[in-house]
Amino acid sequence: MTGSGKSLILNHQPVVMRIDIITVLPELLESPLRHSIIKRATDKSLVEIHLHDLREYGFGKHRQVDDYTYGNDAGMVLMIEPVDKCISALKNQRHYDEVIYTSPDGELFDQPMANTMSLHENIIILCGHYKGIDQRIRDCLITKEISIGNYVLTGGELAAAVIVDGIVRLIPGVLSDETSALSDSFQDKLLSPPVYTRPAEYKGMKVPDVLTSGNFKLIDAWKEKQAWERTKKLRPELLNDKEKNDE
Ligand code: ADE
Repeated sequence: MTGSGKSLILNHQPVVMRIDIITVLPELLESPLRHSIIKRATDKSLVEIHLHDLREYGFGKHRQVDDYTYGNDAGMVLMIEPVDKCISALKNQRHYDEVIYTSPDGELFDQPMANTMSLHENIIILCGHYKGIDQRIRDCLITKEISIGNYVLTGGELAAAVIVDGIVRLIPGVLSDETSALSDSFQDKLLSPPVYTRPAEYKGMKVPDVLTSGNFKLIDAWKEKQAWERTKKLRPELLNDKEKNDE
């Protein structure tokens, strides 16, 4: 581990997955990674997340990591040398399954991709930079580019947080049985059915009778039907043509 990595957990027991995030704004990632499911996963030693401040590999007094573009486009671009040094330092210590770059140009992050990535042991995520990164980083150091949606964010840090959340929650043992990832929307291409809690009636709005019937066979059938209907109504593009006509 390079001296620059800020470990989010203190012990060093073997973990299921290690994620190294390279960023110029580690502060932006600290809070989302220290809470909720990700905190639970790090506390249980199921995942180890290290934040690397790219500026520690930067040049001069100001730890410069970006520079003007050749070709006179506006804006500054991440230089290859600090990124190469940081990634090489990590790769010298272990094998990485993927070196990911967060960018709106990348492959769209979806549930199947999250499922695949949750099986990896070690990944690096390089957060994208406002005006981009030197193309040679993408050509030579990056193995996968990921976009979290068809819109442009100011940097790749929030995208990295989304990707980490999406994969860490799938690591066995992170979620308890009742919040199992298997019942998530998208896991079987369908949206989740609606859910209700007490009271059974509020201002005349009643919870569907079947849910309070105690008949689990009927309840399961109801949930499945609702999932299909919801998907057909809200996200029909998730279903193929046959499925759209079937139900
Ligand atoms: N960086 C800027 N916009 C992004 C997006 N949509 N997905 C991933 N990284 C990004």
